[in-house]
Amino acid sequence: MATQPKTLDDLFLDTLKDIYYAEKQILKTLPKMAKAASSPELKKAFETHRDETETHVERLSEVFDVIGKAPRGKTCDAILGIIEEGKSIMEEFEGSPALDAGLVAAAQAVEHYEMARYGTLKAWAQQLGHKDAVKLLDQTLSEEKKTDQLLSQLGTGEANKQAA
Ligand SMILES: [Fe+2]
Ligand SMILES: [Fe+2]
Repeated sequence: MATQPKTLDDLFLDTLKDIYYAEKQILKTLPKMAKAASSPELKKAFETHRDETETHVERLSEVFDVIGKAPRGKTCDAILGIIEEGKSIMEEFEGSPALDAGLVAAAQAVEHYEMARYGTLKAWAQQLGHKDAVKLLDQTLSEEKKTDQLLSQLGTGEANKQAA
């Protein structure tokens, strides 16, 4: 039997596994970022988003359910790299007035990665006719965008000035 060419369904499942893995890594990282942040607002933002991230993992389980698959992650080198860069900032800028600006930047790289993934998955779910999945992915996408905007505000509002 010849191997079947892979389809958009396969791509959708692979990418779902990628972001599922990524979200779980992010869930572990956000408390460390909250602990490292010096401004109370930034701390709060990381804590709030940690709670949201828990919901993101749950929603992804529901998306797996929609397509009749068990939730499973697949190592995502991109998020590991982004998180690693964030760790370096925490270490190298500890005690520096530029620390929060660096944390905001690291967190925005995470959010943009998530926005890219959820935007793609939402479009593919639409294409594949998984309406319930579209709704779930869109809810999370909105929260990632809101978080990104809040981080922009916190960055331009205080962290960058303090850093300069
Ligand atoms: Fe997320
Ligand atoms: Fe996020």
